[in-house]
Amino acid sequence: MSGLADRVVVVTGAGGGLGREYALMLAREGARVVVNDLGGARDGSGSGSAMADSVVEEIRAGGGLAFASYDSVATAEGAESLIRTAIDEFGAVHGVVNNAGILRDGAFHKMTDDNWDAVMKVHLYGGYHVTRAAWPHFREQQFGRVVVATSTSGLYGNFGQSNYGAAKLGLVGLINTLAIEGAKFGITANAVAPLAATRMTEDIAPADFLAKLPPSHVAPVVAHLVSEDCTDTGSVFVVGGGQVQRVAQFQNKGVTFAEPPTVDEVAARWDEIVDLSNAVPGSNPVG
Ligand code: NAI
Repeated sequence: MSGLADRVVVVTGAGGGLGREYALMLAREGARVVVNDLGGARDGSGSGSAMADSVVEEIRAGGGLAFASYDSVATAEGAESLIRTAIDEFGAVHGVVNNAGILRDGAFHKMTDDNWDAVMKVHLYGGYHVTRAAWPHFREQQFGRVVVATSTSGLYGNFGQSNYGAAKLGLVGLINTLAIEGAKFGITANAVAPLAATRMTEDIAPADFLAKLPPSHVAPVVAHLVSEDCTDTGSVFVVGGGQVQRVAQFQNKGVTFAEPPTVDEVAARWDEIVDLSNAVPGSNPVG
């Protein structure tokens, strides 16, 4: 039997794109799914129930169990209402897939507070609010699965996406600590940086490149991370077009100064400081 049977999983932003694919796959694997979507446009404007409803209908038509939520993940109230929906409809919450997202791209010199805040609110605060609302349930039942959607734009940078990249890498910071705090409660927290053809990427990458990136390639990896069969935690995966890769932070041996160095002494050792050829996976020296 699948490690997802009867599990209750909340998928945010599941009314289209990747989230829809995650919800459909989780339901096929026997999970009960709360399909959350605010139902707005790519830039976060507008709202509606049609997107979430259509995915719920699709799941039910296939014999699965699903319930719709139109809450915004961007507020604590929305996230609490979303988790309450899982509890009220299905009696529990075992996993959250923090997938909801918007784009407000623009070069940094044109960045506005409004575009910065809107992106932070949906991605970083959204991940925080939804996971925070589910966390007491996870601790109490000694089981929980957190997946966040990060991005290669956060891991490596991308022109015009300073707000988005900062929010996306913030989510990696979040799961790094959740993995530590959740360990003794059977809670895992991982991140997936998807690469997929959706409305989010339709005008960002060339069509022939996107044709190789159906969202269906990403969903099985997300489903595995949510399943009780997967106990890995604190990891980041880049997933798309058939490739599933792990990404990690590496740290080199660097140099050690016995006394505080002069600026010239730092400069003299700079080549050694930046050389990553002997780097190994990093860990928190104060952890
Ligand atoms: P999408 O635009 O199809 O899906 C995002 C969904 O989130 C939409 O259905 C939207 O209505 C919903 N949403 C937006 N604000 C919301 C809010 N406040 N509350 C609830 N729902 C809200 O885009 P896609 O590509 O499926 O993106 C899914 C996730 O994957 C996003 O977090 C995105 O940043 C991330 N991602 C996608 C990549 C790709 O290649 N498609 C690359 C890297 C990351």
